[in-house]
Amino acid sequence: MCGIIGVVQKRGDVAPFIHQALKRLEYRGYDSVGVTTIEKHKLYIKKDQGKVEEVHRKLDLDEMPGSIGIGHTRWATHGAPSMLNSHPHFDCKNEIAVVHNGVIENFMELRKELSAKGHKFRSETDTEIIPHLLEDYMKDGMDLVEAVKEVTKRIEGTYAIVVMSTKEEENKIVCTRDGNPLVIGRKENVSYVSSDIPAFLPMTNDMILLLDGEIACLTSDEVRIESLSDGSEIKRDSIEISWTADQAQKSGYPHFMLKEIHEQPDAIRNTLRLKEDIIKQAAKIIHSSDRVFMLAMGTSGHSALAGRHMFASIAGVLPTFELASDFSDTVYGSLTDRDCIIAITQSGETTDTITAVKYAKERGVKIVAISNVVGSSITRLADHTILTQAGPEIGVAATKTFMVQLTSLALIALALGELTGFTDLKSIETKRKCLERIPEIVSETISRNEELSRRLAGELYDKTSLLFLGRGVSIATAEEAALKLKEIAYNHAEAYSAGESKHGPIALVEDGFPVIFVAPNDKTRSRMIGNIMEMKARGASVVSVILKDDTELESLSKFVFTIPEDIEPEFSTMVFIVPLQLFSYYMALRKGYDPDMPRNLAKSVTVL
Ligand code: AGP
Ligand code: GLU
Repeated sequence: MCGIIGVVQKRGDVAPFIHQALKRLEYRGYDSVGVTTIEKHKLYIKKDQGKVEEVHRKLDLDEMPGSIGIGHTRWATHGAPSMLNSHPHFDCKNEIAVVHNGVIENFMELRKELSAKGHKFRSETDTEIIPHLLEDYMKDGMDLVEAVKEVTKRIEGTYAIVVMSTKEEENKIVCTRDGNPLVIGRKENVSYVSSDIPAFLPMTNDMILLLDGEIACLTSDEVRIESLSDGSEIKRDSIEISWTADQAQKSGYPHFMLKEIHEQPDAIRNTLRLKEDIIKQAAKIIHSSDRVFMLAMGTSGHSALAGRHMFASIAGVLPTFELASDFSDTVYGSLTDRDCIIAITQSGETTDTITAVKYAKERGVKIVAISNVVGSSITRLADHTILTQAGPEIGVAATKTFMVQLTSLALIALALGELTGFTDLKSIETKRKCLERIPEIVSETISRNEELSRRLAGELYDKTSLLFLGRGVSIATAEEAALKLKEIAYNHAEAYSAGESKHGPIALVEDGFPVIFVAPNDKTRSRMIGNIMEMKARGASVVSVILKDDTELESLSKFVFTIPEDIEPEFSTMVFIVPLQLFSYYMALRKGYDPDMPRNLAKSVTVL
């Protein structure tokens, strides 16, 4: 939520770079944009409500002087999107500029205190108390680093903050964090700080992590990191990021989402190449635990739902899935150090998931993480991490990261199956071979269904509600398909177990009501036929995702998407979801929406 960028360089204007970096960060929040630079001890400010390019067209974000600057793209929590609420925020004299990601929980009392001292507030944000607090500390000569340290003692909540001031002799950016991400980039004569790696990826692949409880001071020559608790200097090596700047570009595709759907075969292939030891270690932890929980949110939760089936059918282990946001309210203190959690989060920063994991860790629970982002918060909390290999995912709607989560879960399920002996080794080998074929099957599934999904979107775009039904593991597929459609095409879409559908949801069905069945050729197929008949009898317009040449199911459906080749049943989500991802993409386009930046959402949700 919210994208932050800060740059300080030896010479030359930073504004054009900040503008481009904000575009690369826009997936994190896009209701307002702002940039501030400093030249000759004077602040230059451009900010307004709207997406980066809208604001750029109005204000020309490239034309700002100064070799130091900060920028922000906002996902509003406190105060509606507006020019005044846009970041950066300033002190009374426009000498201190601050961008912030997160929520300052005690902002009301601080605002009252500062107002009583005469500070004038211009926005409704929680953020604005920070520049005024800094102003207060700096009025008697305290420098920026010391003042930021003092501010961290006063504010409560979660934050990543980046600040600069015209009062410093040398150009410097100071930043600190608690609960929200910040990464630092370095190259000769330039230092960068940002909420996420793609912001500076075209300039450098060297990243230095900033951790909670640390403060960094960036000049064009160096980065100095200190511990907030005792002021000691922290020497941290940089990590080389394997992502390329190109991966964070659209490469000829009209949208990131479409590009990322097409990248799925490669993302799976790369994840299948993960070192065997890494997978085995995860399986070992799970095997030695009494209870296994899977925790996640959104799409990652749907990976967990499918993953449960893989674990149960291959290894005879049935984990409990819990939404991370509700975990601590559900377990009622029953956790022990014999439990284990598999935390799934592509960003590794989702606050709901991080908070649940911290809660469990305090109770001695072992943590296995599945994440796509090296160095992310979850990777530092976990006892063991599987880093999925999707490359950067920019589209707000998760697609290729879903696929690699499923791939990792499948690999763990196979390794766990070998440990438990629940499935004989020959069948495990057959399943492994099938998994290796999935990249190719996904590729062919895309080719044979892309045009069809565009056509179906043309037929269904004006339907307000749609039902997605499946059984067994296909419930996870149906859930994910419904979420994709809700997120980017704003249809009311609900997923149900086809078995459950007759216990209520069927009352919604009337002539022409679209019901989409995920119907692979597994043990649920004949019961799915029964459910299709029930829906047809009530006038539903049936769309099915089926195996090619399943003429029986085809004859019962008005419209079909077909899968080119049969696969092991527990892996079916990895293939059956593909036409439905494409369908939501084309529904969004048909309805005139931007699938990469759906309303009210942001890629990484860092509030509770
Ligand atoms: C997926 O399309 C959504 N953008 C959202 O549900 C997402 O999956 C969820 O916020 C979890 O994110 P994470 O995987 O980064 O933790
Ligand atoms: N709470 C701040 C605001 O509403 C920051 C939001 C963000 O992370 O973008 O402005």
